Amino acid sequence: MPLRYAVFGQPIAHSRSPRIHALFGAQLGISIDYRAIEAGRGEFADRVELFARDGGRGANVTLPLKEDALALCATLSERARRAGSVNTLIRDGDGWHGDSTDGIGLLRDLRERQACDPHDLRVLLLGAGGAARAAAFALADAGVRELVIANRTLKRAESLAAAVADAAHVGARAWDALASARAFDLIVNATAAGHANAAFDVPQTLLAAQTLCYDLSYGKAAKVFLDGARKSGATRLSDGLGMLVEQAAESFFLWHGQRPDTASVYAELRAPAG
Ligand code: ATR
Repeated sequence: MPLRYAVFGQPIAHSRSPRIHALFGAQLGISIDYRAIEAGRGEFADRVELFARDGGRGANVTLPLKEDALALCATLSERARRAGSVNTLIRDGDGWHGDSTDGIGLLRDLRERQACDPHDLRVLLLGAGGAARAAAFALADAGVRELVIANRTLKRAESLAAAVADAAHVGARAWDALASARAFDLIVNATAAGHANAAFDVPQTLLAAQTLCYDLSYGKAAKVFLDGARKSGATRLSDGLGMLVEQAAESFFLWHGQRPDTASVYAELRAPAG
């Protein structure tokens, strides 16, 4: 019987995770039943419980459930506790162990696919919500020289900066004060602005010739920031599709103890449909 896994979220119909895990399983000869299960915040705990009773061994969790998943877990990895969110559930006896693979997924994509090792770089992180939090700790762990966190609501940037301050030279900036900042080596967009479809202004002063502009999301959601960066002259641009594949590979490793090759799966997802 195939092992049962799933991704929970809302909306979830367009999730690429079932395809990614099917490709990983086929590659390594592991028979997996991995489905997308729609669940809003109010129904998540019940759905996960039902899934466990039906033989569910592990799950990914995406928006808007990553903080609810943290609360549901009996035990947590250190990186999930610090990130304040769980994207990977692992069945452990009668309960769930929670882990967060988003940060390591980001670092692997930056290093291996974007030729960008954040070590010693000056990094600007846009946003201070759940996605930004995982990215902030990962970037600090990677040994960035400087991490500036900018957010529309300055208070949230300040509290995230304070939380990671031990690990790197970290500062917070108001959104409106960005134009007067100096250029960065890497700009990571972790805001949800792409979902709103409004124009995104990336001040030219933030960009040097080699600045990499990276959006944690992919598809349409990444377009607003990447278009704004391109308009201001950025030439190194990437969405977060590679991060999606890398975080999935790390979840796969936690469940199955084997590391899939991500390059072929990334290439297949990136290829135009048809
Ligand atoms: P996620 O889990 O995706 O990070 P979140 O925790 O709700 O979601 O955080 C959303 C982030 O996107 C926040 O940093 C938010 O800024 P505020 O803290 O000021 O709300 C940011 N954000 C959302 N819409 C935005 C917009 N149109 N422009 C700029 N930032 C935006």
